[in-house]
Amino acid sequence: MTPVFLLDGEAIPFTPGQTIMAAARAAGRYIPHLCWHPDFRPHGSCRLCTVKAGEHFAAACTLVAREGMSVESRTAELDDKRRTLLQMLFVEGNHFCPSCEKSGACKLQASAYELKMMSPHFDHFFPDRPVDASHPDLLLDFNRCILCELCVSASRDVDGKNVFAISGRGIKTHLIVNSLSGQLADTDMSLTDHAAGVCPVGVILKKRRGFAVPIGERRYDKLPISAEEEASPPTRLPNAGPPPPRGGPSEAT
Ligand code: SF4
Ligand code: FES
Repeated sequence: MTPVFLLDGEAIPFTPGQTIMAAARAAGRYIPHLCWHPDFRPHGSCRLCTVKAGEHFAAACTLVAREGMSVESRTAELDDKRRTLLQMLFVEGNHFCPSCEKSGACKLQASAYELKMMSPHFDHFFPDRPVDASHPDLLLDFNRCILCELCVSASRDVDGKNVFAISGRGIKTHLIVNSLSGQLADTDMSLTDHAAGVCPVGVILKKRRGFAVPIGERRYDKLPISAEEEASPPTRLPNAGPPPPRGGPSEAT
């Protein structure tokens, strides 16, 4: 018999070794997340997927499901903590949604709507971050980076190029481009790389395509992220390589 755990009281089947997140997505259930992607090994950095298993808080993307486990996700307590995490992300970078071409297709913005974040609450850091427009086809706006590391994984594990890396520590942690000049133009990154399409926010942008889908008609303009993801059939990135060790079925980003 297929083992199950309870997610907010609903029985979710899982396969041995599968995480709460992977099993929930396979069952069409949404748990808020930013740094999790079904094609890559979870590293549990954003903590937006925090759930409560018994008395313990844990990241759903790294917590392995067990038979009979009871997991809380969409409770007022957890959504309140998630809202605080989002507020910290918003003030740590420069996120100006009305002028961002990823608006309506950005997971950070959509998660803020989902979790009813009404204000940043904290003081903005207004960090001084560069924009790299050196590449003929791609633009990098580091102001919006949430350090999810998905581009690092995609470039290294799928594209085999290792274009991106995380550098620095603590508040100085930041994304870098692996080239002598530090410029994207001096890498072999191309428009068709998986890393070019994996960013959940508006850092890695394809030039001359910003408004191919008009604002108002984008992925999260039509449905809240929870409903949109629950309605999305899981699809694995082509050429994504073998599934992650604890992974379940995939979803489009
Ligand atoms: Fe994540 Fe995008 Fe920053 Fe890469 S550029 S670490 S994908 S937010
Ligand atoms: Fe689990 Fe980011 S989605 S820690």
